Amino acid sequence: MRSRPVVTIDGPSGAGKTTVSSRLAEAVGMVRIDTGAMYRAVALAALRAGVPWDDPVRLGGVARELALSFRTVAGAPRVYLSGEDVSEAIRTSEIGMGASAVSAHGPVREALVAKQREMAREGGVVLEGRDTGTVVFPDAEAKFFLDAAAAVRARRRQLEISPPGAQSFEEVLRNVLRRDVQDSTREHSPLRVADGAVYIDSTTKTVDEVVEEMLRRLPGVPR
Ligand code: DC
Repeated sequence: MRSRPVVTIDGPSGAGKTTVSSRLAEAVGMVRIDTGAMYRAVALAALRAGVPWDDPVRLGGVARELALSFRTVAGAPRVYLSGEDVSEAIRTSEIGMGASAVSAHGPVREALVAKQREMAREGGVVLEGRDTGTVVFPDAEAKFFLDAAAAVRARRRQLEISPPGAQSFEEVLRNVLRRDVQDSTREHSPLRVADGAVYIDSTTKTVDEVVEEMLRRLPGVPR
């Protein structure tokens, strides 16, 4: 039994999960775990080690060995791989495509899901990703599925890509649509709304409105 709740937020790329999960975690004093950053870190570590993104067995090894940590520095979430700050390096569009590719492999998912369950064992955690409510914590105390229209997601994603302005809106939109198909049709843990999840469409909502709606639905969490 965990003493504090687990909250999951799943949804497609650009739905606003990163911003919303950070704000929600801060509002209720919980730790946020960005599971997408973990798949991105596997793609980066594999690229550096010369392991192809289509080699499930070796990628499973990379995922199991991953020395990843999350820290908040000057109010901003940072990601460290073997002690090196890779927060920007994992946000390129190449690594985004790599993350989508490596996340389709069973051995990678098994290794990262095990790490995520371990990190959130005691509760008091907000997990964001694609399968956090369906696979990682189907028994989470609160589950959300955050969605938005593709064009809105592409615009948000374009602002996030490093370096700024590296890609046109059309190119980002094409990638978003391609990734939607890849992430929702794959064999292992495809993106879908978890049983019991609250579906929120953020297309015309502000971050504040989405966070407010989530706070209203958190059972027993002091506000
Ligand atoms: O949310 P993001 O763009 O940082 O995620 C990067 C990729 O990782 C995305 O293509 C889907 C994949 N992913 C996943 O398969 N399962 C998760 N729980 C989180 C991300």
